[in-house]
Amino acid sequence: YEVEVGLDPAFTVGTVDERLFGSFVEHMGRCVYGGIFEPDHPTADEHGFRRDVAELVRELGVTTIRYPGGNFVSGYRWEDGVGPVDERPRRLDLAWRSIEPNTVGVDEFCRWARGVGVDPIMAVNLGTRGVDAAVDLLEYTNFAPGTTSTADRRVANGHKDPHAIRTWCLGNELDGPWQVGHKTADEYGRLAAETARAMRRADPDVELVVCGSSNGAMPTFGAWERVVLEHTYDLVDHISLHAYYEPADGDVGSFLASSEDMRRMIAAIAATADHVGAVRRSSKRLTISFDEWNVWFQNRFAGQAGLELTENGALIEDVYSVTDAVVVGDLLMALLDNCDRVAIACQAQLVNVIAPILTKTGGPAWRQTIFHPFALTSRYARGTVLRTAVATRDLATQRYGDVPATRVTAVHDPETGALTLLVANRDRTEPAALTVPLRAFGSSLRLLEHVIIADDDPSATNSAEHPDRVVPRPATNTVVDGDRLTATLPPLSWHLIRLG
Ligand code: AHR
Repeated sequence: YEVEVGLDPAFTVGTVDERLFGSFVEHMGRCVYGGIFEPDHPTADEHGFRRDVAELVRELGVTTIRYPGGNFVSGYRWEDGVGPVDERPRRLDLAWRSIEPNTVGVDEFCRWARGVGVDPIMAVNLGTRGVDAAVDLLEYTNFAPGTTSTADRRVANGHKDPHAIRTWCLGNELDGPWQVGHKTADEYGRLAAETARAMRRADPDVELVVCGSSNGAMPTFGAWERVVLEHTYDLVDHISLHAYYEPADGDVGSFLASSEDMRRMIAAIAATADHVGAVRRSSKRLTISFDEWNVWFQNRFAGQAGLELTENGALIEDVYSVTDAVVVGDLLMALLDNCDRVAIACQAQLVNVIAPILTKTGGPAWRQTIFHPFALTSRYARGTVLRTAVATRDLATQRYGDVPATRVTAVHDPETGALTLLVANRDRTEPAALTVPLRAFGSSLRLLEHVIIADDDPSATNSAEHPDRVVPRPATNTVVDGDRLTATLPPLSWHLIRLG
């Protein structure tokens, strides 16, 4: 089937905030212990962090990382994780029924994050704790030496310079009954408002993220946001959204259209926030922090309730296929297409736990299939997202009705003139013939690269033994001829096309 794309550098959506390429490290399963941190590993640095994993994190192009949870943060006492390691308590983590040794805490994480070139996003515990603990943590991380005793505690712990954390999450998924310290929208809204007020008084430069819905199927979706924002609108900068996708009941067609759901969630929550703003006659416009998103086979996970009490036990180490990589690439495109409204996005999570990077304890670290669309997009989709008009055919899906078979995202760098096209062919049987007229860009654009993620076997995965079974491969018959680009899109494929 044929696909034609209308593009003009004058018609823009917005500028890409680099925080769209964020990730998430939770004290959960083997994400921290056995993931980024493994002191006995042959590649461990002097602080016990794996150098091979750090190298892959840099290659992935992650810009910011949310920490330390997730459900974990709702029972976390951050003070347990600072000071001499051998004096830190071993605690029960109620979220994942595990023993938390507190070997890694805020100081270790921030030092590691800065070392891999990443800006940390910190979440405070609004499940079992409140204003005091949040402000103390902010003082501990951000205040200059000599200002307060809490700041000097950090200095005494060997971290003279403040960690300078700009973005803070006011708790995690407090709409969910599974959350330790779960609250009604009014209860949470009041607590978030008072915490935000105090944190802003302590440090007026912080950016605050208030919790929106845990997923689009929550019975309180939309209503939760309205009530929470009625309490917090003037005090916060972003509202969060979370979404995980899987081929529910084997419905791969709908799974491949997951980004339609993400697009609808963004539109719905932007409208809800704007409604609250309108009622308040406010000129302020909130943005969205999509701070947990990914493919997650939740049907393979028995849930939190039945977990055995363990330390460092593996949890939800999903292995991703080519199909999953196409979905992840398409979800990244949905985030970019909404860059005027989505300021932050964090793929959940970074290592081992539903992650682009897998490790073996004592062994290698490797890239999952979903690593590749993330790394390519983060590397090249920088600049201004353009409006696209895509003439394509529809696909019928059980969950989302008729959806476009092809999605195209265009990112233009007005300085260099470079144009990056991201394309997903969600049709599982038919290839597409893509045409992109380039007249509006003048005559200077040349094809630099066209790489494809596709495979004769869409269920193919990478593993420790075959880490490069699935990698992006160069396209063979892409042509820029005069002022037109033509390319072939194999069935079920994701593409990065670069012109410059
Ligand atoms: O990422 C795994 C879990 O998913 C997080 O802890 C929680 O916030 C979400 O439900």
